[in-house]
Amino acid sequence: MLKVAPVELVRREADLLLQLSYPKPDQSYAESTLSCIEELGVEGVELAKEGRLRILGKGFRNIVVCGLMRRERVAIKVRRQDYGHKDAWREAYMLERANSLGIGPRLLGQKGQVIVMSLVEGTDLTSWLLTYNPSREAAIKVLIEMATQCHRLDEAMIDHGELSDASKHVILSQNHPTIIDFGSASFSTRPKNLTSIINYIYSAQLEMVRQRLGLAKVGFELLRRYKEAFSSEDFLEILTEMGLLGK
Ligand SMILES: Nc1ncnc2c1ncn2[C@@H]1O[C@H](COP(=O)(O)OP(=O)(O)OP(=O)(O)O)[C@@H](O)[C@H]1O
Ligand SMILES: [Mg+2]
Repeated sequence: MLKVAPVELVRREADLLLQLSYPKPDQSYAESTLSCIEELGVEGVELAKEGRLRILGKGFRNIVVCGLMRRERVAIKVRRQDYGHKDAWREAYMLERANSLGIGPRLLGQKGQVIVMSLVEGTDLTSWLLTYNPSREAAIKVLIEMATQCHRLDEAMIDHGELSDASKHVILSQNHPTIIDFGSASFSTRPKNLTSIINYIYSAQLEMVRQRLGLAKVGFELLRRYKEAFSSEDFLEILTEMGLLGK
């Protein structure tokens, strides 16, 4: 059963409220976080058990909790109290740009140190590839979709910035990959999304997967050409050379 604490209850219960200020339980930061959450239209936050918020993730810069907004379960990303740059406006802006390409969790709102977005429930890409034993067909479909999202970001000159370790920033949900965390994203004339995901696919940890899928390496010259213009022709040639698309 889903346990949700209404915003009003969180405000009254100091134990719950102070969990919104991490790592230091700072009353005024927690109160201002809750106000942002409320103003964005979130009705309540999910509890893992009595007295504990359900934490989806704790990163270097944020914690992510789960909430309810217009009957939809949502992810609420809150800047850590010890992170210097509190305002999340820029991250929300980059996520919105990605959303306009059909990429990333849906941005639902941002205020101050808080971003509300759609909840992506699933498994990280590496665990899915290594331990879920997807069929060859399913794995190839996911890698093509992943590469295509990266190519779209490259074309739009948006560099996600942290895709070389895709296990942390790609969530598989119903065999559909979603790129999360646009906190390090920036506009760049040299976006490295596709090249990062290729490096990830060719990393040592995925050797078994590569063998099982029969993937081949991409030539240096082709990659260099792709990075000059991010053309769709070069992109398709890369997929073909890797063995993701039939020749
Ligand atoms: N929209 C979402 N839906 C579900 N889970 C999410 C969502 N966004 C983030 N998470 C979870 O929270 C964790 C931390 O999120 P994120 O990487 O965005 O924060 P971060 O502070 O930037 O992390 P880091 O600094 O470690 O990169 C993720 O690894 C993921 O497990
Ligand atoms: Mg992150």
